[in-house]
Amino acid sequence: CGIVGFIGANDAKEVLLTGLEKLEYRGYDSAGIALLKDEDVNVTKVKGRIASLREKVDEHVTATMGIGHTRWATHGEPSEDNAHPHQSASGRFTLVHNGVIENYAEVRDQFLTDVTLQSETDTEIVVQLIEQFANETNDVLAGFRKALSVLKGSYALALIDNQNEDLIYVAKNKSPLLVGLGDGFNLVASDAMATLKETDRYVEIEDKEIVLVERDRVEIQKLDGTVVERAAYTAEIDASETEKGTYPHFMLKEIDEQPFVIRKIIQEYQDKNDTIKVDKNIRKAMTKADRIYIIAAGTSYHAGLVGKQFIEKLANIPVEVHIASEFSYNMPLLSENPLFVFISQSGETADSRSVLVQTKALGHPALTITNVPGSTLSREADYTLHLHAGPEIAVASTKAYTAQIAVLAILAVDSARAKGIELSFNPLQELAIVASAMETLTDQKDEFERIAKEMFATTRNAFFIGRGTDYFVVQEAALKLKEISYIQAEGFAGGELKHGTIALIEEGTPVIAISTQENVNLSIRGNVQEVAARGANTCVVSMKGLETDGDEFVLPHVHELLTPLVSVVPMQLLAYYAALHRDCDVDKPRNLAKSVTVE
Ligand code: G6P
Repeated sequence: CGIVGFIGANDAKEVLLTGLEKLEYRGYDSAGIALLKDEDVNVTKVKGRIASLREKVDEHVTATMGIGHTRWATHGEPSEDNAHPHQSASGRFTLVHNGVIENYAEVRDQFLTDVTLQSETDTEIVVQLIEQFANETNDVLAGFRKALSVLKGSYALALIDNQNEDLIYVAKNKSPLLVGLGDGFNLVASDAMATLKETDRYVEIEDKEIVLVERDRVEIQKLDGTVVERAAYTAEIDASETEKGTYPHFMLKEIDEQPFVIRKIIQEYQDKNDTIKVDKNIRKAMTKADRIYIIAAGTSYHAGLVGKQFIEKLANIPVEVHIASEFSYNMPLLSENPLFVFISQSGETADSRSVLVQTKALGHPALTITNVPGSTLSREADYTLHLHAGPEIAVASTKAYTAQIAVLAILAVDSARAKGIELSFNPLQELAIVASAMETLTDQKDEFERIAKEMFATTRNAFFIGRGTDYFVVQEAALKLKEISYIQAEGFAGGELKHGTIALIEEGTPVIAISTQENVNLSIRGNVQEVAARGANTCVVSMKGLETDGDEFVLPHVHELLTPLVSVVPMQLLAYYAALHRDCDVDKPRNLAKSVTVE
């Protein structure tokens, strides 16, 4: 979900709507804004996108302060009633909220039995509770504080009181929230991306802090009222990078940006002697570890699977890769000196953060690999490696995945060197070859559009198979296709398909095989034959030098360890064109959100 708030001298409405448009990638099933003027609060809510909210907002309403929200439903279906902002019974308080209040049912039963609730959300419980306590204490701030002391769970809150046009009350616990500083105005945003047009100066808010945001003053307090001083930082995102320019979709733009991102990574991690440089503290942490635990979700998890290969094969350090949400509740036996490596494009994924909190409490060191250096996971880990991929806006991750793999390769090479292990290749040169190979592929869009149309235009399901490194890439290929085209897709280890799943192969079922590794080339082709014999519509994507059939798609040759960076590009393009042919919303697929800040 996304939050934005504005208090200043100009029209708040436009700042809020533009901010919500920028935040829409965080959730887009419903949205709303509240504008306050002359003790009158005007609330507009819609089920659906910000474009509909923009249409519905009364253009005659002007106000110099307000709050807005775009939602990714957790409690209660997406509907106008469940959309934020929510109001207290008397209408005096209006609130937007990100996160999940875990004890909302207890709070309702203990404190709110006399209140008729208007929605099914945990958020409404919060705003009703604030009103109750504000009445009881006869002091809004005291009531707000008391409410926060009762709530359990995660929240980023922005609250307005229609009796006070000069103040937005803000609080945060676990969910991301920033305060943006302007000249004669101030802002609240769950992500700096929302308000870059207005300011690049932000103040981070920590868990269990309250912030009083006025037009020309911002005061951060701890829950007990102690005032906290904190310097602002400059957000280093170029606002123009968040526009899609001439591209029809962010996803296509981001696929095309991959060669530049790889070149940028080479540049950022290269020293004067053209060798790889990684922060020496990270190098120390890597070589000190007796085992590395990679923790991630979704696409980042798939990048972690590839990263394990690099670190084990090059640096000779054992690696386990875990799905964050599983690790949290079922922690494996840990080694004596573990290093936790969190991979997260956004740096905000709540599932990963929850593991970080646990492992930090155990005293273990952590490294975050992220595209957003100021993000929660980056701030809270001991070390950060930056992906340098530029803002990724499309919900389906593409350039962040390849950037993660490239940075993991760099990390592995650096650790290998630190351990005195000789490498037989020049990694930066090999990455440069990858960048050119990616370009060759993104220049062949027509070909992928044709294959996508032929294989995926009407199919109900699809299978991707690979062995070894290719198995990791086919899992990502299947996820991309599922996410944006809604085709039921699975990525399988080539040899495993015949142990059950082959029962699903029918006449015409699409099966895509990736073959980039010499040692499994013939065996994966055997698996392709098995499904073809049962009627599957097959397509093989192979590395140059391994092709056996005139009818396969041949990838430009790259170093054997780095093939995922190249073989994934056709998979991204196939998913993109499949979604286009099926009239799906490529950048904002149903039910998803780009950064999931709830567990
Ligand atoms: C969400 C997104 C996925 C993403 C995952 C992890 O589920 O829809 O595309 O891979 O979160 O996100 P992160 O920001 O931690 O890489």
